[in-house]
Amino acid sequence: MVPDARPLFTDDSATLVRTSRKLTSADPLPFANNAFRVIAKVPRGKIIGAIRKLAAQVPKADLEPAGRQGFRVMAQLDGQLTAIDRAARSDLERALSAKVRGRVSSRGGGDEYWLIGRKDLGELLLAYRLPKQRSRKVAAGALAPELSSMLVAASRPDRRDRFLDPFAGSGALVAARLAQPARRIDYVDERLDELRPNLPDVLRRKRDSLRMFAGDARRLTMIDDHDVDVIVTDPPWGEHEDVDGPYETFVADVAAEFDRVLSPRHGRLVLLSSRRRADFWSAALGPLAEETLEILINGHPATVIIGSR
Ligand SMILES: C[S@@+](CC[C@H](N)C(=O)[O-])C[C@H]1O[C@@H](n2cnc3c(N)ncnc32)[C@H](O)[C@@H]1O
Repeated sequence: MVPDARPLFTDDSATLVRTSRKLTSADPLPFANNAFRVIAKVPRGKIIGAIRKLAAQVPKADLEPAGRQGFRVMAQLDGQLTAIDRAARSDLERALSAKVRGRVSSRGGGDEYWLIGRKDLGELLLAYRLPKQRSRKVAAGALAPELSSMLVAASRPDRRDRFLDPFAGSGALVAARLAQPARRIDYVDERLDELRPNLPDVLRRKRDSLRMFAGDARRLTMIDDHDVDVIVTDPPWGEHEDVDGPYETFVADVAAEFDRVLSPRHGRLVLLSSRRRADFWSAALGPLAEETLEILINGHPATVIIGSR
């Protein structure tokens, strides 16, 4: 992660932060769909003039040489991909080409420089898109790696954690937690045997800290009382996947089991629920449901419930 990141601007889908660390890849930001390093900024004003001013700043910017596949320039203004005035684009491409000693390749595949404007940000940014590891195809019903990393980050991970996902499914949250040190990481899912062949490689590699159980989250017989520091989980939403009996009873049984296994002194919880069912969870979790965040997952309203003891 980025320890000294300080937020400068946030809107509904972007955050601008300052950090002393020069990022060269998106790896320290696994929760971001897209991550950029700002290399120049100017007051937004009229776009063509602003692009020319950005081009004038390129010679003194700190940029890596372009790779063999060259680079291209893209623009996103107020959330929309935007065509750029041809002459202003040429000025910018020429300045970048001289600086990174690379050719323009409009087909992509190489480095990307983005002009970024946000409605409530008074500046136009020129930013380098940080390369990201190509992620595996996400299995049907599995959480995206970015969202999984964000939910794990919301649990304030600590290297002494005994972590549990009792509805682990494709293992997306466990894989995200494995990216950081922990004392113990427990995967539980009642369908483990069926899911095992498609689990990500990080879960199939044997390591002492990772335990995998086929089991019922309502009766976690493999876990002693108060032996878990943090639960991050995405239980069945009760929409496409059925639970036995009424959803409210299921929620009450799960919440009682969380109460049993979580450390009474520093137990923490991050739970993702469909927005429609979030009130059941908040009621059953009681004081453990301290905060709720409303998010959209592929357009589907969801609620993240966060709390600690
Ligand atoms: C919403 S999915 C979790 C998806 C997971 N976060 C992922 O990214 O793949 C819910 C999971 O809970 C499991 N499940 C349902 N009822 C369960 C129970 N009583 N105990 C344990 N696992 C259960 C299902 O098999 C399913 O994999």
